[in-house]
Amino acid sequence: MSPLAFFRIKRLNQVHRTLLNADPVKTLIKEVAIASGFRQLGQLSRDYQKMFGELPSETLRSHKNHAKSFPARKIIAPQPNVANEMASEVLDGLLQKPKRIAPKYFYDQRGSALFDTITKLDEYYIPRIEQHIFSLFKRDICEEIGTARTIIEPGAGSCEKIKWLLPDISPAAYVPMDISESHLRENAAKLGLAYPGLIVDPRVCDHTNDTMLDIKLPGSSPVFFYPGSSIGNFEPEAVIDFMRKLRVMMGSGGGLLIGVDTKKNSEVLHTAYNDPKGVTAAFNINVLHHLNHLLGGNLKPDYFEHVAFYNENCGRIEMHLRCVKSHIAHIAGMDLEFSVGELINTEYSYKYHPQEFSALAQRAGLRMKRLWQDKQRYFSVMYFLPALLTV
Ligand SMILES: C[S@@+](CC[C@H](N)C(=O)[O-])C[C@H]1O[C@@H](n2cnc3c(N)ncnc32)[C@H](O)[C@@H]1O
Repeated sequence: MSPLAFFRIKRLNQVHRTLLNADPVKTLIKEVAIASGFRQLGQLSRDYQKMFGELPSETLRSHKNHAKSFPARKIIAPQPNVANEMASEVLDGLLQKPKRIAPKYFYDQRGSALFDTITKLDEYYIPRIEQHIFSLFKRDICEEIGTARTIIEPGAGSCEKIKWLLPDISPAAYVPMDISESHLRENAAKLGLAYPGLIVDPRVCDHTNDTMLDIKLPGSSPVFFYPGSSIGNFEPEAVIDFMRKLRVMMGSGGGLLIGVDTKKNSEVLHTAYNDPKGVTAAFNINVLHHLNHLLGGNLKPDYFEHVAFYNENCGRIEMHLRCVKSHIAHIAGMDLEFSVGELINTEYSYKYHPQEFSALAQRAGLRMKRLWQDKQRYFSVMYFLPALLTV
């Protein structure tokens, strides 16, 4: 998708949100006209229809009247320089108070391997309960997805969970996406060997930025598969932005099968992120090794300890690194001071009641079709379809 098309879709989403909230739409429609020019009105209207259904004719008329007076404006897409972007993103985070590192930086090869070890720990209940739900409701879940679909899995990691649905859904293609390149390629290749005939088409990308929208997919109307409650790592508003991207990519015929962790007893949650073997701690601290390697630096993993707790007010697990020795370290050409007791936030993991999550999805243009849970309601597996606008 071109940057211009993406920009247009972003604006269309704004228009759509306003329509949903029944606010006056004139200002936004005017913005769309300014940004893309009157000559694109027909295209805007067609795109809107594809995404959400008919644009109300009154809105269109007022848009036409406004748009006549605005000249076309060219939108120039900036050329991204990935290394600089990473350095500035990491520095931005480390210059904040409190300091932050985005969780995507956990995943170098060692981080991915440590995460795979975490998934085998007794205390980390998520994969076990999620798999149990898939085994209980496999037929139902496969029926919802159907066969011969293109399945896209953001953050696919070890590509293990798609096996829960294979061979029953016999996809047209399986597209695992991940930021951790060697781990992804290795595991995608293994999957291809284990399932001859399955088209495995791995893509390395950061799904928190808009490059995901540029990916050329091997088929249309894909079904997204996003298990493991990875969605919990996004702040709630960012969940909406992310799911809106999925909504754009799935068109009107796709779907989203997603695993979402629920709010529960804080002791269970606390233990899951504080395993006695210290694997989660090693995973957390590894982020500093990764940043040193990635950006050139001497962040000091030995001067930090792992901290994780459930913040009940915010409904999230918080992971931090606590500094145990005051020091100065440098990263990406900048000296940074760390003082004893200071926390660097490395991850949030939000937990949601199914209704809470469904309400967020609705704001991204998705409606919940099915919900499957275990008896204790420790975890939810949900299937979403594109919502159609009824005006
Ligand atoms: C918590 S693990 C989940 C892995 C697997 N989906 C599961 O359910 O077990 C998160 C995965 O997403 C990948 N990941 C994290 N942030 C990412 C990003 N911004 N873009 C792409 N992949 C990302 C990591 O490399 C890792 O494989």
